[in-house]
Formats: sequence, C-alpha cells, structure tokens
Amino acid sequence: MINRVTIIGAGNLTNSLLTAIHRNRFSYKIDVVDTNKEKRSNLKKFNVNFFSSYTDIMTESKLIILMVKPNNYIEVIKEINPLLSEKMIVVSFMAGIGCCSIKNKLSQNIPVVRCMTNITISDSESHIFYHMKPFSKNIAGILIKFFGTFSKLKKCINEGDIDKITALYGSGPAYYVYFNKIIKDVFINMGFSKKDATIFTNDLMHGTSKIIKNNKNSDDIISAIASKGGTTQAALTELKNNKVDSMILKAIKKAYKKSKNILEK
Ligand SMILES: NC(=O)c1ccc[n+]([C@@H]2O[C@H](COP(=O)([O-])OP(=O)(O)OC[C@H]3O[C@@H](n4cnc5c(N)ncnc54)[C@H](OP(=O)(O)O)[C@@H]3O)[C@@H](O)[C@H]2O)c1
Repeated sequence: MINRVTIIGAGNLTNSLLTAIHRNRFSYKIDVVDTNKEKRSNLKKFNVNFFSSYTDIMTESKLIILMVKPNNYIEVIKEINPLLSEKMIVVSFMAGIGCCSIKNKLSQNIPVVRCMTNITISDSESHIFYHMKPFSKNIAGILIKFFGTFSKLKKCINEGDIDKITALYGSGPAYYVYFNKIIKDVFINMGFSKKDATIFTNDLMHGTSKIIKNNKNSDDIISAIASKGGTTQAALTELKNNKVDSMILKAIKKAYKKSKNILEK
C-alpha cells in the first residue's frame, strides 16, 4: 500500500512535483486524477497513471495529495470521501485551507497534513513545509520517505506558519518574476529590442540567483556592486526614498491575510 500515491489535480504544481519525481526514478506508483481530460497529454512524459474520474484504485494509495484550487476542494472531498480509509493520509498543498476545514468534511478520522511549497519544487532543491496536529512521527517518516527524495522537508509546529510560508514561499517565485518583468520593461523603455531585453534580464536573474546562493549576506553582495556616489547607489537610494521595502511588506501581508482564509470574501 505504501508504494501507491494518488495526486488529485494535474495542474501547475503537480507538473512541477512530477518533474522532480520523474528525475529521481521513483519506486512509487503514481495515480493522478483530474476531471479535465485534456490534462492527460501533459502527463505522458511522467509515466504516471491518469484518471479523469474517481475509481476504487484510490483505495490502494497510502497518500492522497490534494493539488486542486481551493475553490474546488469541497467537491473533491465529497468525491473522495467514500474511497478513503483511516490507513490513508490526506496531504493538502492547497493555499488557505486549514487542516480542520478538511478534517471536518471527512466522514472518518483520517490524518490530514497541510503542506506548502512552490513551483521551483521541480528543481529538487526546494523546501516542502508541513504541519499536522497532532504530530505523528510515523506520518512524518512516511512523508520524508516520499517527498524527502526530491525536496527538503521542514516541520511547522504552528499552522499559522504555513499561512506565512504560503504568502512568502508559495507565492514567492511570482514576486521575483514580477521584478524581472519590471527590469525587462525598463530595457525596452531604454530602446533595447524585446528579444535582447528578455535575454539580458533573464541572464541577470539567473546569474544573480547563483551569486545569492553562494553568498549568504545580501549586504556583502550589494556592497560589492554599489560604490559610494556611484550609479547603483543612485538607483538604490531612489528605491529606498520611495519606500519600496515597505510596499513589498504591505503586499506580502495582503497575501498572508488571504492565506489565513482564502475562501472568505
Ligand atoms: N501554482 C503554484 O505556484 C502553487 C504554489 C503553492 C501552492 N499551490 C496550491 O496548489 C494547488 C494547485 O495549484 P495549481 O496552480 O497547480 O492549480 P491548477 O493549475 O489550476 O490545477 C488544478 C487542476 O485540478 C483540476 N480540477 C478541478 N476540479 C477538480 C476535481 N473536482 N477533481 C480533480 N481535478 C480537478 C483542474 O482542472 P480545470 O483546469 O478544469 O480547472 C486543474 O487541472 C492550489 O490549491 C494552490 O493553492 C500552487
């Protein structure tokens, strides 16, 4: 039973997860259920079983991984409820849906683990944060065995930390890409072609992320680029004067507020 896993939802995050799983030559059998039949072709390269409806095969899985949008979760729980048993573990990657909300909709006492990661999980170096209450060493071991081969697992004692991680880490790649896009548009604004602007900004992002990875201290990196009275310093001072840092803090706090209860209007 332990070697079978069902993933529900074959969207963006599942694609990233399967990319990592595929590279690691897994011994697990992976079944993916997505009501959108068109998703079947996207998954061909991953060598997984695709189902466009819920079948008894799910009863053979130990882990049931929820990868649908939060607004679809109630219908999903209704569908899977009859197929679940207390030997299974429900693992949710959905933003903003608490463990209790899921547990309360299940008709049996099934452990629910709430997880968060982001689409960079495909490159095998990302974190998966997880929370469960009560904590079970046995369940943690099962999660580590499965997810630990392609990601770094980090336990969150408080569920509130998962909400914070959702705003910072789950959404995080979008913030960097947004900044990348701003710089690209500035290249274009200053007369560079769209093609060159894309190449140059992507080089910038890629090269900088490698430097960040090898140098832990942001101030050291900045001071290696910005000299007093120089060009970089002029730009950084303008950003500081315009309080870009507090604008970003405000923006991420909006995401955090949303992640505490995503379905609240
Ligand atoms: N994307 C990210 O960067 C990211 C990061 C962290 C966490 N998450 C979380 O991960 C979850 C999935 O996100 P995503 O971006 O991968 O979503 P997505 O691309 O929209 O994928 C969800 C898939 O589930 C399908 N679906 C809808 N209802 C279903 C049902 N009843 N049964 C089975 N499948 C159903 C959807 O089909 P249709 O196309 O027909 O709707 C779609 O193919 C979300 O809860 C999100 O909060 C995402």
